[in-house]
Amino acid sequence: MLTTSFEQNLAGAIEIARSAPSSHNCQPWAVHYSPVSRTGYLAIDRCRALKGLPSLENEMLMSCGIFFQYIETLMRHAGTPLQWTWFDESHTTPTLPQEQDGLICFCPTEQQTANPDAYHDLAEQIRHRHTNRMPYETTTLSARQQFQLREIFTDAPVRLDIWQDQTSRKQVADLVYQYAALDFADKAAWQETYSFIHFDKNKPVEDGFYLHHLFGKIPAYMAWLFRIGFHPKLNRFTRLLRLPQFMAREFSKLTGQGPQYLALSLPDPNPHNLFVTGMRLAQVWLLLEQWGWGIHPLSVLVQHDLPKTTLANTLGMTHLPIFFARFGQIKIAAEVSPRRHLDSILTID
Ligand SMILES: Cc1cc2nc3c(=O)[nH]c(=O)nc-3n(C[C@H](O)[C@H](O)[C@H](O)COP(=O)(O)O)c2cc1C
Repeated sequence: MLTTSFEQNLAGAIEIARSAPSSHNCQPWAVHYSPVSRTGYLAIDRCRALKGLPSLENEMLMSCGIFFQYIETLMRHAGTPLQWTWFDESHTTPTLPQEQDGLICFCPTEQQTANPDAYHDLAEQIRHRHTNRMPYETTTLSARQQFQLREIFTDAPVRLDIWQDQTSRKQVADLVYQYAALDFADKAAWQETYSFIHFDKNKPVEDGFYLHHLFGKIPAYMAWLFRIGFHPKLNRFTRLLRLPQFMAREFSKLTGQGPQYLALSLPDPNPHNLFVTGMRLAQVWLLLEQWGWGIHPLSVLVQHDLPKTTLANTLGMTHLPIFFARFGQIKIAAEVSPRRHLDSILTID
């Protein structure tokens, strides 16, 4: 039962923040709050976290950072701000269930005046933000918009780079064509990815995505072809039919349209910095959302060493990227994807 206004606000903030984006929509987070000690924590839930590739750990940390950025800001607007520290640095580090890895500890701090308008606006933005994998308008970023995006990274351990020229589009398209098939090449990783794709629209689910989230509206025979053709057990057959090459070509055409790309890179990619990167990425995603723009992450270029290094060298980055995406003004709206219930995320005792 939620007894204090802090607990009610925390539950309210998580109810909204659960719409945060995460890799494969796995939503790898767990939150606990103890009214007795008046402390709580955010943890990675290992039962939900992706593990098909070692680099997915970076994405788990970033995903949790995005989720927490929403909670932290909503709690501030609600007038019940959080004081938080990195889990290891907390003096009162609690014992966690075996399947959870603590990220941060938090506690209520002095109440402040609430800002209901800011809370409402933020909640609306969070709810309306979706990953958009469709073609975008060709509109380019104005100098002012670039400045606003860069401002988010002031004093951050992470660097933002942006490209919006024809040469970069061609380079990204070539890289995607060259490396997109890597998604299917690693059996364990593809098995994990495939398990997050749902084919029956009538079956209620709480994570992952349906085919229309990935490809927009496609004919039934295409859905069937994908389901059978890309089944992990038919890996050999899939390769024989050169389906990965076909997918890579189509994906390369889409990604080569850009029109903009952004990369986040870290000189020191430790867990804390990756979490903070997620917090900044959350702000980028919402600022773009305010402008009517969308993001389409292209993780296949940063999850494996070779494409990651080649991408960094080709686009002239100082550090290796940990997040890379195309982005632009939305032309075709994206659809809402499923989410876990609040009760499975937050425990209070
Ligand atoms: C760190 C991170 C990496 C992601 N990588 C990809 C990706 O490579 N391709 C993709 O289509 N979506 C990617 N996504 C988007 C997720 O699939 C998406 O957030 C999730 O399915 C929920 O959908 P929504 O963002 O529309 O709510 C990524 C999201 C995050 C946070």
